[in-house]
Amino acid sequence: MTDSEWAKQLRAQVVDELVEGGTITTPQIEDVMRRVERHAFAPDNNLEEIYSTYAAVITKSDEHGIPMSSVSAPQIQAMMLEQARLEPGMRVLEIGSGGYNAALIAELVGPEGDVTTIDIDSQVTARAAQLLAEAGYSQVRVLTADGESGVPSRALFDRILVTAGAWDIPPAWREQLTEKGRLIVPLRMRGLTRSIGFENRGDRLVSDSALVCGFVPMQGSGAHREQLLLVNGTDEIGLRFDDGLPIEPSRLDNAVRSPREEAWTGVSVGRHELIESLPMYLATYLPGFCIMAVDPDLDTGLVAPANRSFAMAAVDTATGDTFGYVTTRRNVDGATAEFGVHALGPRRSHLAAELVDLVHAWNTQQRGGPGPRIEVVPADTPDADLPGPQVIDKRHSRVVLTWPPAGTSADSPTQ
Ligand SMILES: C[S@@+](CC[C@H](N)C(=O)[O-])C[C@H]1O[C@@H](n2cnc3c(N)ncnc32)[C@H](O)[C@@H]1O
Repeated sequence: MTDSEWAKQLRAQVVDELVEGGTITTPQIEDVMRRVERHAFAPDNNLEEIYSTYAAVITKSDEHGIPMSSVSAPQIQAMMLEQARLEPGMRVLEIGSGGYNAALIAELVGPEGDVTTIDIDSQVTARAAQLLAEAGYSQVRVLTADGESGVPSRALFDRILVTAGAWDIPPAWREQLTEKGRLIVPLRMRGLTRSIGFENRGDRLVSDSALVCGFVPMQGSGAHREQLLLVNGTDEIGLRFDDGLPIEPSRLDNAVRSPREEAWTGVSVGRHELIESLPMYLATYLPGFCIMAVDPDLDTGLVAPANRSFAMAAVDTATGDTFGYVTTRRNVDGATAEFGVHALGPRRSHLAAELVDLVHAWNTQQRGGPGPRIEVVPADTPDADLPGPQVIDKRHSRVVLTWPPAGTSADSPTQ
């Protein structure tokens, strides 16, 4: 078998998997992902690596080995193309250029369409421009620019697809959309990233889908670093806050000296069941929500999360001296696990009870439901004009999360 035949077979396997798994539902997306050669955009990698459904091809890393640029995983590209609902003739801006995704977009909007892809890194744009031209997509405009400002000279766009992890929505993205335009963006909210499909509603953006994803971070003027709070001043337990530290860090210093409060919820989860809406639910209702990680080399057993690199956690914002996290324990059936919470600090009983109540509320009201509606309004919008009370404030925008009322959500799982 020639390399080209082998690549075609591997590509077919990837697309079959994405169709069977439900990521691809649109025939046009299936067709272009079967036809356009992904390996033309990763000439230095081997075919098995390139045609891996859930893995990105890393094309550039920083001095610490952290990926800064990639050709995104086929699953992520397919998912965002589905969210974008591209049609022939559309004008599209892609922010973050790997080449392959722009080629897929160019196929989907056809010869009457118009595709601009921009990247902040001139090495990335040089690479993308060359590979796009070699693959026959020289009509795609490749520019070097900070995506924070969009591309005013080419606006308006029917679609803007952001392909780097954004912490905020700068005004340019909404202003450069047509009246019925859509913005697809991996947005971070309290440390959780969701690829959100937004409709333009004039003065605001309103979500119609929010799907779990991971992305390299946004660089340039929109870059935003999360803050790490080391509990007790050592590297053993770290709490990562993405939207500002809600407490004075030293107040947590004595929390680990208290006994650990443990409470179990009676709420169980299947071993392979997706529960993406639980972290989002806790992040919505707990202003002190954070992600806890434990250094395995320094772990003295002060905390015992089920997953040491990612545990849903929160600090008690009333006093700042107590924190807690969600864990699980295996049920006797071996196939399911029960959610529990641990809390440490003077208000441990109070925080544990609050976390248990939230897990119960999620279980009875939102589990398997569509998740929250996410609305983005300008940062100067007064509280009285917000569409709901649960808000995460960013630099340029206010992100409002509204969960469906209890009893309306159980039938239509999209998360
Ligand atoms: C995941 S890669 C893009 C993948 C690409 N869309 C593909 O074909 O799969 C993310 C890119 O975003 C770029 N990027 C990061 N911050 C940016 C910014 N502020 N403006 C434009 N590009 C940015 C990075 O340089 C990187 O190349």
